[in-house]
Amino acid sequence: MLRFRDQQLRIVCCCLFLLATVAYAQKATPTPPKPTAPTPESASAPAPVPALASAPAPDTLNLTTPKDEDISLKNCLGVFLEYVVIEPPERIYPFLDNKSQHEQPYRFKSEVTLTNTGYEKVLGWEVYIGFQHDEIIAQADGVLFSTGDSPPGIAVGNGTSVLGSDMPDLQTSIDTAMDPTKIGYTFQLTGTEFGVAEPDFPLPTNISLVNQGWECGKPSKEDSPFSPANRMWVCCAENRTAMNDTKDLDSGFLPRVEGDIVMYYDVYQTYGDNYWAKVTISMEDPLGRLDFWNLTWDWKQGEFIFAMKGAQTFGPQEQDKCVLGKAGEHYGSLDFSQVMSCSSSPTIVDLTEDQRNNPQVGIPNCCRNGTLLPELVDPSQTKSEFQLQVYKLPPHIDRNDIQPPINWNIGDGYKCSQPRAVSPSEFSPDSIYSQTAVSSWQVVCNKTVSPVKKCCVSFSTFYNDSVIPCPTCSCGCQSNTLPWNHQKCNPHIDAMFLPYNGVLLPPSNRTALGLQLAKLDHYTTPDPVPCPDNCGVALNWHVYSDYADGWSARITIFNWEKEPVPKWFAAIDLPKAMPGYQNVYTFNGSVVPSLDDALLMQGHNGYSNDYLLGLDNTDNPGKLQSLMSFDKRKTPGISVVKGDGFPQRVWFNGEECAIPSQFPLGSGAWQGRPSVQLSFVVVLVTIVLLLGDATRQL
Ligand SMILES: *[C@@H]1O[C@H](CO)[C@@H](O)[C@H](O)[C@H]1NC(C)=O
Ligand SMILES: *[C@@H]1O[C@H](CO)[C@@H](O)[C@H](O)[C@H]1NC(C)=O
Ligand SMILES: *[C@@H]1O[C@H](CO)[C@@H](O)[C@H](O)[C@H]1NC(C)=O
Ligand SMILES: *[C@@H]1O[C@H](CO)[C@@H](O)[C@H](O)[C@H]1NC(C)=O
Ligand SMILES: *[C@@H]1O[C@H](CO)[C@@H](O)[C@H](O)[C@H]1NC(C)=O
Ligand SMILES: *[C@@H]1O[C@H](CO)[C@@H](O)[C@H](O)[C@H]1NC(C)=O
Ligand SMILES: *[C@@H]1O[C@H](CO)[C@@H](O)[C@H](O)[C@H]1NC(C)=O
Ligand SMILES: *[C@@H]1O[C@H](CO)[C@@H](O)[C@H](O)[C@H]1NC(C)=O
Ligand SMILES: *[C@@H]1O[C@H](CO)[C@@H](O)[C@H](O)[C@H]1NC(C)=O
Ligand SMILES: *[C@@H]1O[C@H](CO)[C@@H](O)[C@H](O)[C@H]1NC(C)=O
Ligand SMILES: *[C@@H]1O[C@H](CO)[C@@H](O)[C@H](O)[C@H]1NC(C)=O
Ligand SMILES: *[C@@H]1O[C@H](CO)[C@@H](O)[C@H](O)[C@H]1NC(C)=O
Repeated sequence: MLRFRDQQLRIVCCCLFLLATVAYAQKATPTPPKPTAPTPESASAPAPVPALASAPAPDTLNLTTPKDEDISLKNCLGVFLEYVVIEPPERIYPFLDNKSQHEQPYRFKSEVTLTNTGYEKVLGWEVYIGFQHDEIIAQADGVLFSTGDSPPGIAVGNGTSVLGSDMPDLQTSIDTAMDPTKIGYTFQLTGTEFGVAEPDFPLPTNISLVNQGWECGKPSKEDSPFSPANRMWVCCAENRTAMNDTKDLDSGFLPRVEGDIVMYYDVYQTYGDNYWAKVTISMEDPLGRLDFWNLTWDWKQGEFIFAMKGAQTFGPQEQDKCVLGKAGEHYGSLDFSQVMSCSSSPTIVDLTEDQRNNPQVGIPNCCRNGTLLPELVDPSQTKSEFQLQVYKLPPHIDRNDIQPPINWNIGDGYKCSQPRAVSPSEFSPDSIYSQTAVSSWQVVCNKTVSPVKKCCVSFSTFYNDSVIPCPTCSCGCQSNTLPWNHQKCNPHIDAMFLPYNGVLLPPSNRTALGLQLAKLDHYTTPDPVPCPDNCGVALNWHVYSDYADGWSARITIFNWEKEPVPKWFAAIDLPKAMPGYQNVYTFNGSVVPSLDDALLMQGHNGYSNDYLLGLDNTDNPGKLQSLMSFDKRKTPGISVVKGDGFPQRVWFNGEECAIPSQFPLGSGAWQGRPSVQLSFVVVLVTIVLLLGDATRQL
């Protein structure tokens, strides 16, 4: 009986098991199911859940034993980097509902520690932190962001690099008997990240040392199934071969980078409490231009400029800052009336050209009246140099204790990096000896893109009598009111097509002609009318002819400002047509290889056309014009009418101009006609003949 019931039970159990197995198999669960007969234990005890609930709450923050990391630190020969989230993410305003959790901002706080465990000093360290949660840095003490940004509000979601401000160098343990304050540095970052909530911690993807000669592996983190990791670390190993290789002078320093304007701060003579440095500013943007550069920076350790050659500080000397401050105490016997500038953030300006041969202040490569031009425009005007004698203050009066000024700025429209320690520059101070700097720092400035331009372009053709004008408000619209009739204008709609003579009128006088043309050609007339472009310099690109084996275009530059433009230059990017470029007739044209073969144009030296006049008293703009020709046989398949004959980018004097978003279309009739069977030579002759009166044409 009992046996029978037992057997029944077994059969039931077996069936249940089979059923369960089948059910699980259908669900394709990878792990085989347990027999489901309920046992007293499993009935009373809760399901064996992994220890998440019983693990310590994440905010105690000593979830990971430091063992692995300690071992890594001890085994590290080089620089040990550690990134620790020291406060768990805390939800901050705006509080979003649960559906938008990935956009919810959280505050985080983390700590980064560098420890030099190797044989070599690290001069000018830079640490890369590969942030990945759209992080925004609110506070960071003791470090500078190499991009030149300063907190709060630096978006670093694609990663960022920081430099030591308080402690830019790391000494070796050997030299300092392992003084932790000299071989290592710790800084904290407070910021906002998005979407990572407790119990997770917002760790970066990567941390590494940027300096050359150190190789960082993949960072480790202590990931246990029970608790998310809040720390990661990596050992950046010295490449001993590279370090030992005296030929590789860059080793240990930061890599030199490229940019639009590149500056160096080269210290070349050091005494106890003062040193001489040379500053070089060079224009590396192939189409850049800087007029009246003003260089400003902030001294970090109370320094002041005693003397300067090749440039001067602008504004008051501020000698009271020296006399009444620490400098007055330390340099008691110094005559401060001779000091160049005691300002903690001086502005430095260039000298005029006639100062170059003045033995008191002139040096080679100085004194350009503040103008820098690209190599293709004038190779002798690409660099500005000046020298300065800097006095330091205690406790930095050791001759090796030199830090460059920070927060460099070269003028509106450029954003500069912080100075980064690079391998010592070599230069020849008097072109006899070649000298190596004691220390060198590089500052790189890139142009910032402004939506408000300084020039604009209109498009016209021989086959369409509508000119596509410059875009509305290309150069800004301070008010929505037209200057001449106090009428409202709309800054947000497309400009109205113009008749050819429209481009000859000042920007604000063109509207009437636009309205006339609209009536004639049945275009819609907006009300209120679009605002003008307000550009001081406007260029017109006119497709002049198009035939079987070539085509030509005419470029006209108008200056609507009173100020003339000496030594102007312009450039156009015609990607499809440039292989067929033949000649630009009245300007000096050269191809810019570094910019996809853009065509650079400037006036001929010594001709009057290297000087663009300003607006005259009768409202006539300064005007320069040239025809250029292209050979279609070198660009098979090119269609001038379909847009290949219109530049995609245009620059004038270092500024990129606003261009229309469309080009004049050809009428069906014109396009349908077979190509005009003129011989190329005949057309060229025609162009040359026309050239004589080209300036009268527009
Ligand atoms: C963890 O933190 C507690 C108190 O916060 C402390 O008593 C304990 O020693 C810590 N454990 C470790 C391994 O640091
Ligand atoms: C959002 O989630 C939290 C915790 O997960 C919960 O307490 C809260 O009720 C949720 N709110 C809404 C609006 O669903
Ligand atoms: C990160 O890179 C992407 C793609 O290049 C860019 O769109 C985005 O603006 C960058 N974000 C930040 C914060 O620089
Ligand atoms: C971390 O960054 C370093 C240097 O930028 C790079 O060499 C390395 O490949 C990166 N590692 C990972 C895992 O992305
Ligand atoms: C170390 O540096 C040397 C010289 O610069 C280089 O040839 C070598 O590839 C580097 N070693 C590694 C592992 O990258
Ligand atoms: C470094 O150079 C020294 C002297 O040239 C040599 O004795 C030593 O073996 C080198 N060390 C390494 C790791 O190459
Ligand atoms: C230098 O610039 C000033 C404007 O700041 C100008 O008046 C002067 O003519 C320029 N001098 C030379 C030599 O170009
Ligand atoms: C330099 O300062 C002068 C006077 O403040 C200004 O006219 C000029 O535009 C500035 N130069 C640049 C490049 O910002
Ligand atoms: C400037 O642009 C160059 C690329 O042209 C880039 O490598 C560099 O990092 C940029 N510098 C700054 C400060 O943005
Ligand atoms: C532009 O408009 C103003 C005001 O209506 C007028 O005085 C001026 O003559 C116009 N200029 C031209 C070139 O038509
Ligand atoms: C034309 O420009 C080139 C490049 O800047 C220059 O070398 C050459 O002297 C210029 N020629 C004339 C006639 O201006
Ligand atoms: C001229 O070009 C404009 C803009 O592309 C176009 O709307 C118009 O129809 C063209 N006119 C003729 C006559 O083809």
